[in-house]
Amino acid sequence: MTYQMYCESAEYLRGRLNGFQPEVLLILGSGLGFLADTVPDAITVPYGDVPHMRQSTALGHAGRFVAGTLAGRRVLLMQGRLHVYEGYTAEEAAYPVRVARLLGCNRMIVTNASGGVNTNFQVGDLMVMTDILRLAGPNPLIGPNLDEFGPRFPDMSHVFDRDYIAALQQAAAELGEPLRAGVYYYTTGPQYETPAEIRAMRTLGADAVGMSTVHEVITAAHAGMRTLGISLITNMAAGVLDKPLSGDEVIAEGERAKGKFSRLILAFLARMD
Ligand code: HPA
Repeated sequence: MTYQMYCESAEYLRGRLNGFQPEVLLILGSGLGFLADTVPDAITVPYGDVPHMRQSTALGHAGRFVAGTLAGRRVLLMQGRLHVYEGYTAEEAAYPVRVARLLGCNRMIVTNASGGVNTNFQVGDLMVMTDILRLAGPNPLIGPNLDEFGPRFPDMSHVFDRDYIAALQQAAAELGEPLRAGVYYYTTGPQYETPAEIRAMRTLGADAVGMSTVHEVITAAHAGMRTLGISLITNMAAGVLDKPLSGDEVIAEGERAKGKFSRLILAFLARMD
């Protein structure tokens, strides 16, 4: 991907947004796309319309940009994201982050569904991500560095903004919503993990596991964006409970968590600086 391609995508979207200037990119993960349907007077652009952009093929991912105002903030939502397990490169999966950056988003809220690796967690818990673990799987920054976005060797000491983590925790406390905090471990998928893999991840310091997010987070950190990450624990990871895993429970838990998930995002947006 060249800088020129990102500029062409941004130029096209800018035209469709008709003067609307987003300040924050909000990526909605599996089963969480409903939030985009609550945006009043939204402008909707399918990913397939945007030059150079790939389409969403995953379960529970509509595959479109939705732009509008939520809690007084100008938000560009992604109703569904792109995953490496769909056959995309890590750079393709994170492509929209740089497009949003060019449109003026210097903040990002990334959400996902994940499996609970930490045995203190329960299905239905929300977790603020404090860090990411990607020891294997592709890296979106491999290839010629695009200096326009950031440096060749970017620092990843704080991929999630510390003030944003604290703001979300405060918002949750005020709403009376329990909120976990932990490390998100990335695996390419598409198969769920084996119990041995989950034990290894736990030993390495993981609290939750999923098949997305890290490429967008690395790309945003490279581009100097302030990022907040929220994960919905839709199932306990393999081997925690002796129960087969399926994509259906991911979607069903998203449905059950709708109320608290929206309340938390809206409360965060209202206090985000
Ligand atoms: N593993 C990986 N990805 C997931 C899981 C899981 O258990 N649950 C939701 N996404």
